[in-house]
Amino acid sequence: MKVGIITVSDKGSKGEREDLSGPAIKALVQADSFEYALVPDETDKIAGVLKEFVDIKGCDLVFTTGGTGLSCRDVTPEATRQVLDREIPGISEVMRSESFKTKKTAALSRAIAGQRGKSLIINLPGSPRAVKECLEIIMPVIPHALEVLKKGSAECGSL
Ligand code: MTE
Repeated sequence: MKVGIITVSDKGSKGEREDLSGPAIKALVQADSFEYALVPDETDKIAGVLKEFVDIKGCDLVFTTGGTGLSCRDVTPEATRQVLDREIPGISEVMRSESFKTKKTAALSRAIAGQRGKSLIINLPGSPRAVKECLEIIMPVIPHALEVLKKGSAECGSL
């Protein structure tokens, strides 16, 4: 499996802040290989890298981290929506609802998830801690989601 990690951060892309969230994803996800990009909070740049990672680099699964909140520069969900064929709302709904039990501001993340072709794209919030919390919540469903997307014939009762 090839996994793409896109850190979305104006400061990170200017070298003014170390990216801790991208490496946090890499440490928590098992993959044969990774693609990594650090981009500013610009819709076109985010959408461009998402398309490149899926269509050209062949990533099966792409995580973004950051830019899902309420600041005027937060555009990751909008950029992601531009490149998705279909949204998978349950992934982000469960991230928010489970996280909300211990972190009320989880309700402020506008993260989305969905499919582009046979690949899965998932927005995660920006902090390393949020990344860890959210990955723990959604990882159990990811293998099945990828299996269904790849083969289109997975046994849905096997989870
Ligand atoms: N979700 C979890 N699980 N843990 C967190 O600490 N932080 C929240 C939220 N989701 C958080 C979380 C906060 S404070 C914000 S502002 C939003 O994610 C959006 O974060 P982002 O703009 O960095 O993507």
